[in-house]
Amino acid sequence: MNLHVALFSSILAIGSGAHPLEPARGKRHFIANLRRQTPAVKLQNGTEPVFDAGLVRMEVQGLLNKYSMASDFLNGINLNPDTHPDTGYAPFNDTPIVQYWANNSKPSSLLTRPRPALSVRGAPAAGAEPILGLPDEPYASFELMPLTDDVADGMDVAYYGALKFGTPAQALTVSVDTGSADLWVPVACPGCSHEQFDAAASSTYRNSGRRVSVTYGAGRVAGTVASDTVALGALSVDAQKFVAVRTESQDFMDYASSGLLGLAFRSISRMNAPTFFEGLLAGHKLAAGIFSTHLTRGSADGSQICFGCFDLTKTTGPVEWLNLTSKTYWTVTMDGLGAGRNRTAPLNLIAAVDTGSSLILVADDVAKQFYGLIPGSQDASATYGSGFYTYPCSSTVTASLIFSNRPYSIHKDDMNLGKLSDESEDCVGGIIGVSSEHGLPANLAIIGDVFLKSWYTTFDYAGSRLGLAPSINNH
Ligand SMILES: *[C@@H]1O[C@H](CO)[C@@H](O)[C@H](O)[C@H]1NC(C)=O
Ligand SMILES: *[C@@H]1O[C@H](CO)[C@@H](O)[C@H](O)[C@H]1NC(C)=O
Ligand SMILES: *[C@@H]1O[C@H](CO)[C@@H](O)[C@H](O)[C@H]1NC(C)=O
Ligand SMILES: *[C@@H]1O[C@H](CO)[C@@H](O)[C@H](O)[C@H]1NC(C)=O
Repeated sequence: MNLHVALFSSILAIGSGAHPLEPARGKRHFIANLRRQTPAVKLQNGTEPVFDAGLVRMEVQGLLNKYSMASDFLNGINLNPDTHPDTGYAPFNDTPIVQYWANNSKPSSLLTRPRPALSVRGAPAAGAEPILGLPDEPYASFELMPLTDDVADGMDVAYYGALKFGTPAQALTVSVDTGSADLWVPVACPGCSHEQFDAAASSTYRNSGRRVSVTYGAGRVAGTVASDTVALGALSVDAQKFVAVRTESQDFMDYASSGLLGLAFRSISRMNAPTFFEGLLAGHKLAAGIFSTHLTRGSADGSQICFGCFDLTKTTGPVEWLNLTSKTYWTVTMDGLGAGRNRTAPLNLIAAVDTGSSLILVADDVAKQFYGLIPGSQDASATYGSGFYTYPCSSTVTASLIFSNRPYSIHKDDMNLGKLSDESEDCVGGIIGVSSEHGLPANLAIIGDVFLKSWYTTFDYAGSRLGLAPSINNH
């Protein structure tokens, strides 16, 4: 309990504006301590975790910092120009999908599922799984990036995978973040605790000396703009720009990965450089101008990003497409939230789809309206600060986000951040309200992993669309 108190006071001291490079303790450190000191408290009764307020409040504070420029960006202010790296790519065509095979074995369940115009490449023999769906192009090029889910206290804190940097290649882990647009890894960073890039060992490394700093949901980093060859499997980008980080806030030192891979649009890059994905696009390295994310729930293995592809084996139904409303963050219009058959009043929200956020954040009045639709829900601001709500753990009401007038459900396990206490029958909801005084646009909704675990998500850069297909997580 003392730890909670200490953590809260450090968050309050940080405030919403300036996020120092030396905030108190990071969340993994915090978790480690909590586990060490009170090992029995966390999962005492069955599998339902107790709400970890410190972890969640830290993430909310981080997201407020990360989106502190969102108001400008969404109003078209301070954007870098669009250099159209997707020139030459058509929107991803998901109807004639070709199945690629891991080996020459037989298809399983997928082919028995009704799917229009499905064709099969090659002659599958007995026993194999189809692995990838792609538009029917003869020399299609794509790459799967396996991700590790960093699970802590029942929360999927971050997803990260490996990229190769330099010549000869050095593999480093990066968290995948569709809510920012810069790539960074530590280089000669005295205080960094993770594996670093050894720039001196790479013959292709260059450093411009230009200083840059970037704020994320998990903290802040500062360094200089560098470039080198960056590769994922057989795909590579020469002279990919990234931040050679010299200092990172404590929050990142407690993070599971070395660096971070921004997958939003160059328009909001702090370096004003193409992202790694935009580099692949511009080099015409991909079969399709898309990447797709599969994020697991509570399991270290199995998550992935499909670069240039769509993995049929991660979905249980067709894709629905939503047009992007800007190419800054991945933004789409959100019409409101739903609870069972009930809905909030129609709201014209801008939803930023952010794999780097675990939570869903909306304006406080939107959260209030939403929880008002769930019988038995309560404002928990007296206990946890404004924006937190509880609902009966036994509730069978399904929460959803409404896009194009259609509800997209959120799996109940993701909606539930944990019970108030071991004895409590109330659970804290994963949709959190943000007071307008924090400076986030009142019509902004940050849509993180609480939602994305239920939906296999295709980020169609060339087609300016976002695709949502039901995830295999939900069976
Ligand atoms: C766990 O919780 C359930 C209901 O909330 C209760 O019936 C059960 O006795 C609890 N078990 C333990 C070991 O505390
Ligand atoms: C082919 O696929 C089957 C089923 O997925 C698997 O058991 C087998 O190991 C694979 N063979 C090779 C050579 O990858
Ligand atoms: C989405 O964009 C496409 C192409 O610009 C357009 O044809 C379609 O009508 C749009 N859909 C909606 C729902 O606005
Ligand atoms: C939700 O919808 C049901 C009918 O489906 C209705 O009876 C109930 O009053 C609604 N609840 C709220 C809070 O709107």
